[in-house]
Amino acid sequence: MKRMLSGIKPTGQLHLGSYLGALKHFVDYQDEYEMYAFIANLHCITVPQDPATLQKNLKDCVALYLACGLDPKKATIFLQTDVKAHAQLGYIMCCHTYMGELSRMTQFKDKQAKGEKNLSGGLYTYPSLMAADILLYDPDYVPVGDDQKQHVELTRDLAIRMNHRYGDLFKVPEPLIGKVGARIMSLNDPSKKMSKSDNNDKGCVYLLDDLKKARKKIMGAVTDNFANVHYDPENQPGIANLMQIMSSLEDNRPFGEIEEQFKGKGYGDFKRAVADDVCHTLETIQNRYNEVISSDLLEKTLSEGAARANAIANAKLDKVQRAIGIEIIDK
Ligand code: AMP
Ligand code: TRP
Repeated sequence: MKRMLSGIKPTGQLHLGSYLGALKHFVDYQDEYEMYAFIANLHCITVPQDPATLQKNLKDCVALYLACGLDPKKATIFLQTDVKAHAQLGYIMCCHTYMGELSRMTQFKDKQAKGEKNLSGGLYTYPSLMAADILLYDPDYVPVGDDQKQHVELTRDLAIRMNHRYGDLFKVPEPLIGKVGARIMSLNDPSKKMSKSDNNDKGCVYLLDDLKKARKKIMGAVTDNFANVHYDPENQPGIANLMQIMSSLEDNRPFGEIEEQFKGKGYGDFKRAVADDVCHTLETIQNRYNEVISSDLLEKTLSEGAARANAIANAKLDKVQRAIGIEIIDK
């Protein structure tokens, strides 16, 4: 079975975009691949965080992984800080990454270009830590969104560089882009991605939103004056986005079928149907979330996940430290 690894950095609450673009696919992948899914909590602190909010988001994120259908019997689910080898290999990777490479990473460059002040050293070097996250586990594939492609490419370069310098240490992983799924756009500005950093709460449906509130957000989504449910992202981006949401929630139902169903009907009817789909999914996820939160499944999942991940990661770290000459006593 091929191995797959991915991480989510929960700096905010998970939303419909994170579910349809990433989590739902992880759930599908867990049957096909040996799946490692971790919560990148060290990456969260590359920007300032409020400790209490961060802790709540991290806990919710693990609970939502489970509520969305990731199965701890199939996938290894763990918290990055529970496997200390991440930070340690992260430092080693940092020593093998050139300043020029880090300076070219668009995430850092973008923040710098926006004139954000007091950017941290951790933010600058985080691609090296991300390389360590991946290379510790020798995965075949790393499913990520577009914005992370550059980091996986750097990871490949670092793996090749170190293999060349020290012998065969790491598998060179492939990014898995595109297969990660459709981009869900903001409900009140369909030219922008639905995002937790959206300043306007109306554009983003959170997985833990009250159902009435979620329905209201869908019913209030920006549309157009064409009065025609037709898939045309260019000219009818709001309607196309709602169609994409409906299609994804209904097992990739073809757009043609949706157009047929709503021929001659108003946008109100269409939005009500999308809202029904969204609320149905949210209700299922929230019921399961409440079960998880009130059980010991969260602790159990993380402790079993950490044990499995530590076994692999520690062996790899040991091999690397030996190869680069910093270990002097046989363990
Ligand atoms: P983020 O929550 O922004 O760290 O993103 C985590 C992953 O969720 C990304 O790699 C994307 O694959 C996915 N994702 C986030 N927002 C969206 C969105 N609006 N549409 C589709 N996928 C998304
Ligand atoms: N950097 C990723 C993000 O911002 C999260 C992440 C950290 C990750 N380590 C990873 C993703 C390793 C894939 C593999 O979304």
